Amino acid sequence: MPMKWASVPLALLLSVTSALCGSSSFENTAIVRTVELGGAVVHVTTTTALKTYTVALGKADREKTSLVEAKVKGQDKLLSYTERVEKDVSLFDVTLPKPLAGNKTVNIVFENIQTHATTPWPETAEQRDDQGLKYTTGLFVLSPYSTLVQRTKLKALVPRFKSYTEPKNVDAFVGDAAVTKAGATVVYGPYKDIPASTNANFIEKYQQPITVHYYHEQPVLEVRTLKRAVEISHWGANINTQDDITLYNAGPKLKGHFSRLEHQMQGYMNKPAPHILPALNLGLPPGIRNAYYYDTIGNVSTSKLRVAPLAPKGAQRSQFSLLELRPRYPLLGGWNYSFTLGWDAPLESSAAYDKKTGTYTVSVPILTPIPGAVVTDEELQIILPEGATDVNYALPFPALSAEIGTHVTFLDTVGRPSITLRYKNLTVKNAQDIYVTYKVSTLAHIKKGLNVAAAVFILFALGGIARRVDLSITPRKKKVQ
Ligand SMILES: *[C@@H]1O[C@H](CO)[C@@H](O)[C@H](O)[C@H]1NC(C)=O
Ligand SMILES: *[C@@H]1O[C@H](CO)[C@@H](O)[C@H](O)[C@H]1NC(C)=O
Ligand SMILES: *[C@@H]1O[C@H](CO)[C@@H](O)[C@H](O)[C@H]1NC(C)=O
Ligand SMILES: *[C@@H]1O[C@H](CO)[C@@H](O)[C@H](O)[C@H]1NC(C)=O
Repeated sequence: MPMKWASVPLALLLSVTSALCGSSSFENTAIVRTVELGGAVVHVTTTTALKTYTVALGKADREKTSLVEAKVKGQDKLLSYTERVEKDVSLFDVTLPKPLAGNKTVNIVFENIQTHATTPWPETAEQRDDQGLKYTTGLFVLSPYSTLVQRTKLKALVPRFKSYTEPKNVDAFVGDAAVTKAGATVVYGPYKDIPASTNANFIEKYQQPITVHYYHEQPVLEVRTLKRAVEISHWGANINTQDDITLYNAGPKLKGHFSRLEHQMQGYMNKPAPHILPALNLGLPPGIRNAYYYDTIGNVSTSKLRVAPLAPKGAQRSQFSLLELRPRYPLLGGWNYSFTLGWDAPLESSAAYDKKTGTYTVSVPILTPIPGAVVTDEELQIILPEGATDVNYALPFPALSAEIGTHVTFLDTVGRPSITLRYKNLTVKNAQDIYVTYKVSTLAHIKKGLNVAAAVFILFALGGIARRVDLSITPRKKKVQ
């Protein structure tokens, strides 16, 4: 059942309360837009004091947006919305949790995550150079309502800007200055008494792109492709996760040659080049074993893994195991690095069994978060035990496509059910779990056992590799709780 991203809102409920929508007698008391200038991922939050809500995003901002969330400030619950696309803007009709009485104010937080939104500038850099990035957005936060006052704050990680746009033709709204800089923040506004602005008139007259050119002292990382295969095995009471990753450094491309000596000097002086990635810290699940990491050349042995113990039963989520992943070579701007990372984990760490219904539930993480990085393209395959029936799954947010198929391995007779999901433009925010449910009949267990026994017998007969196989299929059939 393929789905198009653009037509699937991310929120769960789609009901819209008519009492609030369509009314035009509302006003924004204050709008603050905060943009956290990152590398591959830019985080935009708009806080508004208002009475009900339709949020607008300009066309260019909408195209860069991969995730939209609306909440009442201070509350966790996501508000549902529907999106309408007009000529110049996308409008999100957000349903308030309860109809708002006249003259009351509510604070709404509207978050959107943009990916691929920054450009390295200059496009090339020498090894010792700084890394400059450009980010562009619209000057005004557009709204179908009039606004008493609004500001846009663009926050960088370090207080160094190369430049930022001076807005034009804004005298009508400006008290003191149209734009100011304080430390690591550039502020556009406050702009006062702005009329409804989602119309062509306002947009043509006043809306304009603003660009900040800032320094960013961390590599801009993009996971171009992630292929995650998760294999659930009842026989070994094991869950294996394998990631095939192509990592790309989306910072400025290296000008000239890479000098390992200079790189080592920079490391020694504790001033690593901002656009070179020497290593990456990843949080893997607790209790993992048999971790492996190899690339196109072979095993990579320079990484360090500290495995966190599994949390005792009933405890909250335990700590992460920490992997310091060190690519075979430092990853420079414009370079790719393809590698495979995998591990086993005890099945009971992520599975539950409901005796009443005979149903297993297994939680499967969509990705291992890499802070600041965007996963441009993911294919996730979940392979269930042979003979699993009543396969179902619950997704934390919609996938681009999802299908149930069959995965055949050499020990299987009929293949195993598998679920394949596709995603684009994922960020740390999407590092959530999928819940898979299925049943396995006792008969299927036995059948599988018989197959393995037969295979082992044949392999023994063939000799040679028999010992290895013998070890790997030692029946450690644990009961999955
Ligand atoms: C992913 O991001 C790119 C760049 O921002 C955008 O062009 C593309 O439409 C996005 N794809 C999806 C499916 O959101
Ligand atoms: C709305 O609130 C303002 C300020 O609190 C008050 O002056 C005004 O009378 C109120 N209007 C209504 C219709 O209650
Ligand atoms: C890579 O490491 C694994 C486990 O540490 C080992 O079994 C395998 O033989 C190694 N492969 C190569 C090519 O060194
Ligand atoms: C990195 O990968 C991308 C896409 O796979 C490719 O277009 C690009 O040429 C690669 N860059 C290098 C330096 O190999």
